[in-house]
Amino acid sequence: MADSFEPVLLRNVGVENSTALKVYESRGGYRAVRQALKQTPGEITEEVKKANLRGRGGAGFPAGVKWGFLPPNRTVTLLCVNGDESEPPTFSNRVLMEKDPHQLIEGVIIAAYATQARIAYIYLRGEFHEQFHILQKAIDEAYVAGYLGKRVFGGDYSLECYIHRGAGAYVCGEETGLIESIEGKRGCPRIKPPFPAVEGVFHRPTVVNNVETISCIPHIIERGAEWFAGVGPQHSTGPKLFCISGPVNKPGCYEAAMDITVRELIEREDMGGGMQPARKVKAVFPGGVSMGVLTADELDMKMDFDDPQHYGLLGLGTAAAVVIDQDTDIRIVLRNVARFFGTESCGQCTQCREGTAWMYKIASRIADGAGRIEDLDILLDTARNMGMMPGLSICGLPDGATYPIETIVKKFRSELEDAIRAQPDGRVESAMSAVN
Ligand SMILES: Cc1cc2nc3c(=O)[nH]c(=O)nc-3n(C[C@H](O)[C@H](O)[C@H](O)COP(=O)(O)O)c2cc1C
Ligand code: SF4
Repeated sequence: MADSFEPVLLRNVGVENSTALKVYESRGGYRAVRQALKQTPGEITEEVKKANLRGRGGAGFPAGVKWGFLPPNRTVTLLCVNGDESEPPTFSNRVLMEKDPHQLIEGVIIAAYATQARIAYIYLRGEFHEQFHILQKAIDEAYVAGYLGKRVFGGDYSLECYIHRGAGAYVCGEETGLIESIEGKRGCPRIKPPFPAVEGVFHRPTVVNNVETISCIPHIIERGAEWFAGVGPQHSTGPKLFCISGPVNKPGCYEAAMDITVRELIEREDMGGGMQPARKVKAVFPGGVSMGVLTADELDMKMDFDDPQHYGLLGLGTAAAVVIDQDTDIRIVLRNVARFFGTESCGQCTQCREGTAWMYKIASRIADGAGRIEDLDILLDTARNMGMMPGLSICGLPDGATYPIETIVKKFRSELEDAIRAQPDGRVESAMSAVN
């Protein structure tokens, strides 16, 4: 069992009036940024590299390395903070923005200074109405205090910070979809290269980082890269937020080092608190649905950046676990997942547009009791022929669409086959004609 963990990112959650500037400062807030502004931007980037802070938005790319991709002779740089958070069932960014907005703003100032950005956009998921007001109020307070705007903290550096609200599309979380959306267009991802570091918002060098990634920065500056690099396993360093939902006793957002297992996240008293009475785990999506599924026998998977691949998953993803209980029909899970991706594809790439729609159609007929055994192989075949990995799409949405489908079919095949074989006679033909 991993040791109990003193919260870092969530340390202000539960504190009265935690969103207020004076409360944040009374608990040590805005100390790190004062320290950072005495250093050079290069020194801060080096510190973030040494900490081995890997992006919390899904791909786990090292933040300092990404900042290092910015062209050296640039005149303008933009920072985008990705708060789109549309991955089901993820809500850790929401908690950070809702409960501790100044921690994020402090991280924004340091990251913007390190990358020499003069404009920072915080991109918010369309549905985040309450969080928008909380965050805007905190930004206003920071402006009044002289922490944002012209000559921040009385020095030579200036930074404007804007919130940009999305209209509610999963694909706007993909960094170039987000950039298009900030420019006022439909959030359709761009072909890469050029990558945002070279050509991002308004064709200017741009850094995109997740809310949680940016929220880690003040702690790296204040406590040091060595401290951060010493928390958790070697390649998965620093404090991390984990969400847990489904039929557990205490669904919520918890903080731990990344040596925690899925089982601990479900069972520990200070986390999920175990399954609800008479409920048993059948399956878990440990990293948001797009990373794929685990069976009840695979709960010893570590929630780090490496272990998920050993279980046939795409990655750690958003580290948001949803538990499916033993009474849930896996065909319904299959359909729900396929429906989500079928409706969220932006439609630019044929394989993604048609493939996600096709998978949804097939998953629907299986869920409706009209599936065929060969549908399972058609699903696998479709999944293998779309996505960035085989080089067939502009963005990673179809990869995230296929991992859950593929892992459900492979890991729950006998249950699916039994259900299909148990369908009443004649159901297949009649339902087939309905969907064709
Ligand atoms: C379809 C799709 C949706 C995504 N949604 C999000 C999101 O909601 N939030 C996020 O931070 N990253 C999301 N990403 C990943 C971003 O493209 C990008 O890698 C990330 O924001 C970079 O931040 P990080 O390096 O700090 O993790 C998504 C990627 C894809 C392909
Ligand atoms: S892969 Fe899908 S979501 Fe991504 S750009 Fe192509 S059609 Fe749009």
